[in-house]
Amino acid sequence: MRVPLIAGNWKMNTNVTEAVKLVGEIRPLIEPISNVEKVVCTPFVSLTAVREMLKGGSVKLGAQNMYFEEKGAYTGEVSPLMLSGLCEYVILGHSERRQCFNETNEIINKKIRAALKVGLKPILCVGESLAQYEAGKTEAVVTDHVTSSLKDIPASDNLVIAYEPVWAIGTGKAATGPQANKVIRLVRKIVAGLYGDSFARNLRILYGGSVTGDNIAEFVGQSEIDGALVGGASLKVDQFVSIVKQTAQAKK
Ligand code: PGA
Repeated sequence: MRVPLIAGNWKMNTNVTEAVKLVGEIRPLIEPISNVEKVVCTPFVSLTAVREMLKGGSVKLGAQNMYFEEKGAYTGEVSPLMLSGLCEYVILGHSERRQCFNETNEIINKKIRAALKVGLKPILCVGESLAQYEAGKTEAVVTDHVTSSLKDIPASDNLVIAYEPVWAIGTGKAATGPQANKVIRLVRKIVAGLYGDSFARNLRILYGGSVTGDNIAEFVGQSEIDGALVGGASLKVDQFVSIVKQTAQAKK
């Protein structure tokens, strides 16, 4: 059985004070919900403070990016070694990183490798743009993202994949449950080709893109979808709590 996972991606929102306040409101409400793994991915500057808030509880902490080198002259970058021991998860290859910061599959591959090396759990994001979707290239793009990002990387139970169609991110236009399920089934098949059937069966694959309390049931009600990577709605206490609750309900 795959333990469902709900990860909040706060993106570039909240200063330290606001982050502490937000997690202080969310934590007690989701803490008692079992059979779902709960993660908040905060901005780098808030990781330490939020980590203090989460101490001894079941809500886990993640970062939203990192560089692949362990240390050195890379002004402004955050290394895997800085994150290891500070948080458990790290989102890698998010489409906003691909678009705004020119991250390629090759760079993402290095980042995944570096994260796994220090025991971080990468949430690898894959997904097609609107133009690629309209051109019927979803399968080709997703296949390329998965195979190139994981190229020559040994199987690891720490890996999580999130299918996030770019056209659904922050647009309010989520995919449908069956649509996302179909692509995620394909992702699982690609992973089976890389690492074998049993690994693929145990791998958690999330959906992301305009997930809210109103549509989460449609996604977690699907056989292949193991949870969600939630952007905008993860900043709203009632929404995020509702998403976690409905996931627990659907996957029990
Ligand atoms: P969204 O973002 O939920 O605001 O669409 C999801 C994501 O980018 O991970």
